[in-house]
Amino acid sequence: MAEANAGHEVSYGDDLWTQRASDRIREIFERECEVFFVFNGTSANSLSLASLCQSYNSVLCHELAHVEMSECGAPEFFANGSKILLLKGANGKIDPAEIEPAVKKRTDIHYPKPRALSITQATEVGTVYSVAEVQRLAETARTFGLHLQMDGARFANAVAALGAAPADLTWRSGVDVLCFGGSKNGIALGEAVVFFDRELARDFDYRCKQGGQLASKMRFLSAPWLGMLKDGAWLRHAGHANEMAKRLEAGLRPIRGVQIVHPVQSNSVFARLPSSIEEKLRARGWHFYTGVITPDEARLMCSWDTTPEDVDDFVADVKELAG
Ligand SMILES: Cc1ncc(COP(=O)(O)O)c(C=O)c1O
Repeated sequence: MAEANAGHEVSYGDDLWTQRASDRIREIFERECEVFFVFNGTSANSLSLASLCQSYNSVLCHELAHVEMSECGAPEFFANGSKILLLKGANGKIDPAEIEPAVKKRTDIHYPKPRALSITQATEVGTVYSVAEVQRLAETARTFGLHLQMDGARFANAVAALGAAPADLTWRSGVDVLCFGGSKNGIALGEAVVFFDRELARDFDYRCKQGGQLASKMRFLSAPWLGMLKDGAWLRHAGHANEMAKRLEAGLRPIRGVQIVHPVQSNSVFARLPSSIEEKLRARGWHFYTGVITPDEARLMCSWDTTPEDVDDFVADVKELAG
């Protein structure tokens, strides 16, 4: 970002930084994909889903999905009323068997016609879909004429966890469009919307502009991607965050009264803590959500800059307060 701040550049994404960052993403995904940089994950999800749907369509997603739970209705708003339909599945992952009944529940003119499947990688509860699981979901989606969109706010964590090629986890498995997270992997702000099916990206630039997502000084959104994607920094940072979550899990698991709720596969630990200690932890300066995504679980997130000492200090406080 500091380098991009030197001199002048062409505006609205026609600059060299944006060109280079897009090319780097194409290299990483081994595909001539279309790339758009936007300010945040809500707009990336909403605008990409809007590009897959007409207003009378619906989007299938997991009942805990960010697009359902945490985007204030933005996907429905930007898609002019497309409806979100919810699927179940253990540990935040869609059970593929849920798709057919959801699609066939109603096929009459009075029901919003399913047109897209949205999956989150890594999921809202920190689990990851394997390549085979993505393929299975994509095959099922294809059977029913659904496009496949991936909310990859934490895609880097999933890639680092699985050690899979980004291409295998996305387009080679049938993903049409990926919202590739930047903010959660350490850059100041911004996400990349990556269309593997270029036809679906038609007029997406207009959608971005109308949705308030076309940055005039685009280079400040795109240039940091070059830093993040250089020399594998994105995977090192994500791998570090994942490692810290494993350390946190290992520290918390033996403590009496603490229950780890979901398999720890990326950078988050969902834990039931004795309710008597939550406020005391907060009083000591620890910040975490309880009850946002799931009813009574503390959502403990590790990031690229979480240190082993941070983790050990938290575990020591839980241990002491839990008696
Ligand atoms: C799964 C998921 N998708 C998308 C987002 C992006 O949201 P925002 O609009 O806050 O950047 C988040 C942020 O928490 C998320 O967890």
